[in-house]
Amino acid sequence: MNRGLNRFAIFVACATFFLIIAGALVTSNDAGLATPDWPLSNGQFFPKMVGNLFWEHGHRIVATTVGMLTIVLMIYILVKEKRDWVRKLGIFALLAVIAQGLLGGLTVRLMLPLAVSTAHATLAQLFFCTTVSLAVFTSRSWIEARPLPEETGGTPLRLLCTVALVAIFLQLIIGATLRHSAPWDRHLPTPLILAHIGGALVVTIALGSASLAVLRRYKDEKFLTRPALIALLLLVVQLSLGIAAYITRLASPNDPQPLNPMISITVAHVACGALVFVSTIVLTLRAYRVLPARPALRESFLQDYSIRQDLHVNPE
Ligand code: HEM
Ligand code: HEM
Repeated sequence: MNRGLNRFAIFVACATFFLIIAGALVTSNDAGLATPDWPLSNGQFFPKMVGNLFWEHGHRIVATTVGMLTIVLMIYILVKEKRDWVRKLGIFALLAVIAQGLLGGLTVRLMLPLAVSTAHATLAQLFFCTTVSLAVFTSRSWIEARPLPEETGGTPLRLLCTVALVAIFLQLIIGATLRHSAPWDRHLPTPLILAHIGGALVVTIALGSASLAVLRRYKDEKFLTRPALIALLLLVVQLSLGIAAYITRLASPNDPQPLNPMISITVAHVACGALVFVSTIVLTLRAYRVLPARPALRESFLQDYSIRQDLHVNPE
């Protein structure tokens, strides 16, 4: 285990979280078209950071910094890391951040079309997922983790966690489509709001079942209970922020410009959504690390194997 590499991966993951907040501030301040050009801003390399340019150009600066950090992280991984799949993930992180930067530029050049802005918001979450996964894979707790005993009864935890993760990812995409389908001065489309509320219900059931199953079955294993508890707490906060975001967005079309508390609440809802997603990723990765695959199948394989061994030793 390389402690320096792990600390740096954690640092890049934290910087990515800050970048997601900076991006959400662009959307909530309706600053996406503060400058219509890219890669320059108003024809300049470094424009005066006034008005909405503060948010838009500020986001570009933070994004460039994270891009540089990702290059350093990839090189650090290629030099220090021996596991081939972690090296590949390091290269993938760099490709993802480049694609994300291009999507950001594209959404500006095309004047924020729904599909491109939504894709930019979604890839941001996937990139965050990648940097957090790199931090997990390079950590001491991951490398030193030991297998846990088989689960007795109930749906396998690996499956419960995977279902929760997929449900959250779909909910993030519905949320991004909802958010980019109407700016602050127009009402959000009702069908998308209903889909997002339905999604919240599915996520609550899926993540609630996965986390509670972890807490019940492995209550002494902090490796699993810690991310399960954190994901559950964040989910409660996220549901409250969602309701608050809805209420403030109902009122925002009457305002002369994007105002607080709408700005801070919608930004907090995007940021907490990202945290719910990554805490569930940590839980799922750890479940795959220490829990056996499909206990029933494994058992029948072992039985089958021991019968074959018997036959081999004693053919008649
Ligand atoms: C490279 C890493 C980048 C990441 C991780 C990132 C992330 C984000 C996030 C999370 C949002 C908020 C989405 C939302 O609130 O729904 C956003 C918005 C935005 N980003 Fe980026 N971004 C990156 C690079 C860029 C670049 C290079 C540009 C170049 C112009 C850019 C332009 C924008 C614009 C214009 C918006 C507002 C879109 C809208 O309001 O429809 N981004 N970004
Ligand atoms: C499981 C719980 C939830 C998750 C994970 C979640 C996630 C998200 C995310 C990530 C976004 C923004 C996506 C982006 O642009 O990148 C969003 C937008 C939104 N969500 Fe949720 N959400 C949840 C529950 C709720 C609930 C219960 C409500 C209440 C009605 C709600 C209302 C909204 C609204 C109104 C927006 C758009 C905000 C805006 O226009 O600025 N969410 N959601």
